[in-house]
Amino acid sequence: MEPNSDTDNYSPGVINRESDSEVTPWYVSGSVDYAKLIEKFGTQKIKTDLLDRLKAIIGEIHPLFESGFFFSHRDFDWILDQYQKGERFYLYTGRGPSGMVHLGHLMPWFLTKHLQDKFDSPLLFQMTDDEKFLFGQDNTMEKISQFTQENILDVIAMGFKPEKTKIIVDTKDIKSLYPLAAEIAKRITFSTAKAVFGFTNSTNIGMILFPAIQAVPCFLPSLIEERPTPVLIPAAIDQDPYWRVTRDVAEKMGYYKPSQIHSKFLPSLEQSGKMSSSKPEAAVLTTDDSETIENKISLAYTGGQPTVSMQRRLGGNPDNCPVYSYLRYLFDSPKESNERALKCRSGNLLCGECKHDLSSQSVKFLSEFQKRRENAKDRVSEFLYKE
Ligand code: TRP
Repeated sequence: MEPNSDTDNYSPGVINRESDSEVTPWYVSGSVDYAKLIEKFGTQKIKTDLLDRLKAIIGEIHPLFESGFFFSHRDFDWILDQYQKGERFYLYTGRGPSGMVHLGHLMPWFLTKHLQDKFDSPLLFQMTDDEKFLFGQDNTMEKISQFTQENILDVIAMGFKPEKTKIIVDTKDIKSLYPLAAEIAKRITFSTAKAVFGFTNSTNIGMILFPAIQAVPCFLPSLIEERPTPVLIPAAIDQDPYWRVTRDVAEKMGYYKPSQIHSKFLPSLEQSGKMSSSKPEAAVLTTDDSETIENKISLAYTGGQPTVSMQRRLGGNPDNCPVYSYLRYLFDSPKESNERALKCRSGNLLCGECKHDLSSQSVKFLSEFQKRRENAKDRVSEFLYKE
């Protein structure tokens, strides 16, 4: 593992003036330059040799790796080394329940499920209801608790193995989290937290403690297994600041540094920014009915030309098209997606056709998902960390 500290050269998230984008754990805007994020955050690019290694172990490369949606990592190679030496790892991911779940949220969960199936790993899934209460000016505990209950159904509908999956709800499970949180918090200074998260004198003190709570599931597996246990975190890249502070305290506390694989964001159906559940009209929610899905997608921004004849003549721009991105990362195979891009650029594909493809695929996927989500209502207690 690298000897230098992950909290060196910090800035609170990354604000990239040239492309006018901003990435922090609570806010993502503008068009994100992912190569630059790797540089600024000091992570590693997921390269073909790493994917080849993964393929040699599990026999396949998941489309979310192949399409580059998961593009960056910390110590994923180390996790594979450990695994090949016979050491099992836990998976850890989570959700801030600030609204209903949309398609973008499912992306890291798909990969997490794939990894659980392939490596037979236990999974800790953290619902940070405290985070969303503390960070959202207008959020009440009551509202956040409702979203927590709703979001848990989505997690269960993903099909994680019940005997290997535990959902932690911070405010409910705090008794199990707090002793480790205190150990972690004691080792992070306010000055580090300010530098990493951009906290100021007007930040409420709940938020200042919170990063210690999100760090806990990185070490909890070591307590459960009663020996240092590797943990792999699939998450969107905006969560990286949390893992940097966690990695800095890990070895001092006798644990392994948690490894990460980082995803891009699924864009909003509007022009820029990531899909956000606080803007429901710009996101396809897992609970939307087919009419709503079709309607939202029909209104989506695209990389196309203003008229059909211009599109035929000039071609469209899939690089700046949420409809193309959704199809690429959720439904098309990498090969289909590349063909779609070629046809679009050459003017042989119209936005209406892509929207139609996305609508019908989304309706098909979500109607199955909604059945599993409905069944999940009777299964919640099976998945909770503690009763
Ligand atoms: N902070 C995350 C959010 O706002 C929730 C979260 C907690 C999480 N632990 C995690 C996400 C681990 C990914 C991995 O959504």
